[in-house]
Order: sequence, then C-alpha cells, then structure tokens
Amino acid sequence: MDRKRKNLVRLGTGFGAVAGAAAIAWAGIAAHAEEPVKPSSDFEAQIIGGQPVEEGQYPWLVGLGSPGEGSAYDRQFCGGSVIAEDVVLTAAHCVEDSAAEDLVVFSGSIDLESEDVVETAVADLHVAEDYNAPVAMANDWALLKLAEPVDVEPIALGTEPTEFETLETAGWGDTGEGFPPIAQWVEVPFVNDADCEAAYPDEVDAASMLCAGDIENGGVDSCQGDSGGPIMTPAGDEQVLVGIVSWGYGCAEAGNPGVYGEVADFNDAIEEVLAGWE
Ligand code: ARG
Repeated sequence: MDRKRKNLVRLGTGFGAVAGAAAIAWAGIAAHAEEPVKPSSDFEAQIIGGQPVEEGQYPWLVGLGSPGEGSAYDRQFCGGSVIAEDVVLTAAHCVEDSAAEDLVVFSGSIDLESEDVVETAVADLHVAEDYNAPVAMANDWALLKLAEPVDVEPIALGTEPTEFETLETAGWGDTGEGFPPIAQWVEVPFVNDADCEAAYPDEVDAASMLCAGDIENGGVDSCQGDSGGPIMTPAGDEQVLVGIVSWGYGCAEAGNPGVYGEVADFNDAIEEVLAGWE
C-alpha cells in the first residue's frame, strides 16, 4: 500500500476529526517541505533506511489510532511510548485537535495486522501548555491516560539534555515505499543544536527540540506516520526515551535532519501531569 493510498484510506473512511487533524498536522509541516523522498540509491528503504522491529525489542512502542471499524493498520496515524502502565507519551501535533474519545492505542504487537494487537481506549488527554511556543512545534508533547492499563514494559524518561552518539527511532511511518504493517527501526546519528539550527534557521527551539539524522548523506530518518513515537538511547541493557518524533523537511534528506521533542526538557512537566492523574 503506498503512502497516498493510506492517506486516502484515513481521510476517506470518515474517522473525522482525528484523521483530519493528523493530516493537517502533516500538511502543516509539509507546507514548506518536499514530499518524503523515495531514497534513490542502493540502500533498503524502511522507516527510512531501517529494518523491521522484532517482537519485544521495544515493548513500550504503541500505535495511536482512531476508534471504529477497520484494522489497526488502517486506523493508525501516529506513534507513542508507554511510560507508565496506563500512560502514553506522544506528540502534541498528533492529538492537539482531538478529544480522548477520538483516540485509541494499539499495543501488544509490532505487527498492526496481528491478532495480538490490543486496542485500548483513551480516558484523558493532556497537551503541553507551551506547545508551539516560542516557535512552531516547540514542546511537541502530549500525554494520554488510558482507560485501562496495558500489559507492556514502560520506558524510562531521559532527564539529562546531553549529547549522544547514536540514537534509535522506530514506528509505522512511511518507509519511502509506503506504510509498513510491521514497525521499523533505524539508528540515526545525533545532531548537535548548532548544526540543527544551521539546518533550520529560526525554526529550532534548542531547549525543547533534539535533532538526529545523517546531515551529510541523508538516508536514515523517521518520517510521516512515525510522529509521537520514540527516539531512544541504550543505557546498559535498557533503553531511555530521549525524544519524540516531531518534524523535518522531507525525510532522510541530506541537510535536513529529523527533529524530536527533547524529553529531558519537559520530563518534570510530564511527572507533574502524572502526579495529578494518580
Ligand atoms: N510530522 C511527522 C508525523 O506527523 C513526522 C515527521 C518526521 N520527519 C522527519 N524527517 N524525521 O508523522
């Protein structure tokens, strides 16, 4: 299924506000971006430049979708990370125009066409109050309180805004050849604030954004449909959630890194919301 067709499915089947909102969010980013570029040369195109996630590799990785008929694959439009048994962290731009009842979470399998997928309703929603300030897409985070706990291992939040070497990102977004039913993951080089600000003059809020990608060669990146999902760094045997897929010009283009919400900048604000939900 190619990207256009899945978008048509999403918009055409009338899941309404949510699918529309997500599409507008993409269009908002895409307005000054090119279409995700189909990688031209000799690498295998997946997430962009990645490979299938194995069951259990990122148990906290969930899909965010619209309630209703159709498969999880047809209804998924963003990613998310389970950070407590009944809380998912995602991107504000995925849910800003949604009510909790417009959203469901898919957990339990990396294959959205699997019978093991568990669909969970969303009971409450918190969008970052400072989303879009001081610049568009700043503080791109939101929390979903689930109607019931999900049986998956949560991921720990990053707390130190540091420099990394390599990060891993994952999701069901565009691979350059359409949307995969099985989540994909890819390693992406860390890009420091100065290089990211140079790539996107006046558009980067270094405090709340973190960048990753191969600036020189392109080829590895998250892409449309991965938004809200995790970018992670290994810490011993564990993984830590350092960012949330947010935006980029095109996908995997040289010179245009992927931009992520930087969890360490707003982990305190997240904890506050969690405390209020207890
Ligand atoms: N905004 C996109 C979404 O809604 C994510 C784009 C990420 N782009 C990138 N080049 N890393 O799915």
